Amino acid sequence: MQMSPQRIFRAAGNRAEVAFRFLLRLLIPFDPWHLMPLAAKDYAGGIIGHLNALPRERRGRVADIGCGLGDILLNLDFEERIGLDCDAAVLKAAEIARRIHFRGEARFAVFSFPEERLDGRFDAVILTNWPHSIPPERLKSGLLRLFEENLNPGGCLVIDTVSRNGYPYRHDAAVLLGRLGGRIEPIGDYPCGRRVWKVTKQSEAPGRGQGRGR
Ligand SMILES: C[S@@+](CC[C@H](N)C(=O)[O-])C[C@H]1O[C@@H](n2cnc3c(N)ncnc32)[C@H](O)[C@@H]1O
Repeated sequence: MQMSPQRIFRAAGNRAEVAFRFLLRLLIPFDPWHLMPLAAKDYAGGIIGHLNALPRERRGRVADIGCGLGDILLNLDFEERIGLDCDAAVLKAAEIARRIHFRGEARFAVFSFPEERLDGRFDAVILTNWPHSIPPERLKSGLLRLFEENLNPGGCLVIDTVSRNGYPYRHDAAVLLGRLGGRIEPIGDYPCGRRVWKVTKQSEAPGRGQGRGR
């Protein structure tokens, strides 16, 4: 099969990125899972494409909980980007990657879900490729709090579920997300029975608005 110049550049770019992560990990020993580049995570590309296609007024503030090296966050075209993770080492590496790759402004902070509370309201909150490690009741009550306290009207939660054997919890999306009272829609299907969901909070009726808390 003949490789197009674009494919050759992409393959070379991926190799360079893996080499960069390998070197970064010698400096900051983060979990080897993060050696995987963005190009190998098709769900991440799907989320980036979906959120960046939202209208400008819906791309104000975004938080990525469990952001890892920031592969999703640092490719989002939002006004304010916050990356949160319970692993301080990976956040340190994410900040270096942000600077070296000239990925624009973003803040990173240590945060553990659902024990800690998020401050302020967002247009999008992302939780991907780790909710399968949280028991359903804990995850459900944490999501409910996020949805009520941290989303702007018209804002959305983006979360994945997995159905393949081998994950600690294979959440039932209807049970997990049904109680939130938002509009639930699948935004992509991927290997491992991974499905990415968006739950949108109803916009408030005119006159009842409480403003876009920032
Ligand atoms: C498999 S990585 C996924 C990274 C990123 N979301 C992605 O999809 O590319 C999972 C990340 O979530 C973080 N994490 C796991 N459980 C968490 C929790 N309860 N609260 C915050 N971060 C968590 C881990 O430290 C790790 O960086």
